[in-house]
Amino acid sequence: MKKATVIGVGNLGSCIAYELAARGIVTELVLIDLYRELAEGNAEDIAQAMAFRSNVEVTAGDYEDAEGSQVVIVTAGKPRTPDMKSRMDLLEANIRIIKSVASNLKKIREEPIVVTLTNPVDVMNYAMWKLTGFDRRRVIGSAGMLDSARFRRAISRKLDVPVLDVEAYVLGEHGDRQVPVFSRVAVKGEKRAFSDEERKEITEEIRQSALNVISKKGGTVYAPASNTVNMVRMILEDVPGLAVCSVVLDGEYGLKDISIGVPVELSREGVKRIFEWKLDEDEKAIFYKGAENLKKVIKTVM
Ligand code: 2OP
Repeated sequence: MKKATVIGVGNLGSCIAYELAARGIVTELVLIDLYRELAEGNAEDIAQAMAFRSNVEVTAGDYEDAEGSQVVIVTAGKPRTPDMKSRMDLLEANIRIIKSVASNLKKIREEPIVVTLTNPVDVMNYAMWKLTGFDRRRVIGSAGMLDSARFRRAISRKLDVPVLDVEAYVLGEHGDRQVPVFSRVAVKGEKRAFSDEERKEITEEIRQSALNVISKKGGTVYAPASNTVNMVRMILEDVPGLAVCSVVLDGEYGLKDISIGVPVELSREGVKRIFEWKLDEDEKAIFYKGAENLKKVIKTVM
């Protein structure tokens, strides 16, 4: 039995739920939302979509129905809108929501793995860890794979190569100080060097990429959903491989008391291993600038 709960089933949460069901990653799915009817409507809609495909059980519920979930995915909160300069604009509204979600999750008897998407995700994931008191390896922020997907797409376009030939990752803050790790980019397995000009253009493109979608369709949905579901699959099916996730650090990268995007291996236990990559000087500088900023912001809300 593989059970997951999705908390917050607006566009993003319901798309995650749909993908979890459609890809056969779970056998039981519980949808929770402040607007109960939204959860009920989405649960029934997804269940009907699966009627010719699988026996996955999809229901709307409350926190007590989350009991027994191996993974709980949290998208609850205000989403970023085109008028917002930064994800940090969501801080005040969303910390209140995360506090309430965390206090409910604490009551679950068997500690689930929590995957946080609510923005600003690094701060919210840290708060989720602090407020639930769960093992830090079981509270994981989802954004690094999304940023890495955008990085791969930008490289694929720039070099005119198929996206699946590109291996590239983004670490650090999910925000303006994200770190596209150019020093490790490989195309068809071969390392590729980038000129300063190329780095600048690609970095700018990925920095703008969320807003580009949000200003056209009101929010990002498929990309964060799909990249999150890939992570959940790695967790529930113990798929070996690398993922970039926002993780609470305890000395890794010389940092403590912060959640930030780093490369990890996931497993049924959550974060199985954190990799400490050697970054080049420029990458390191942005990574630690982002960390410094996150620490400051965390202090204002915790
Ligand atoms: C994204 O990057 C808004 O954080 C969200 O798509």
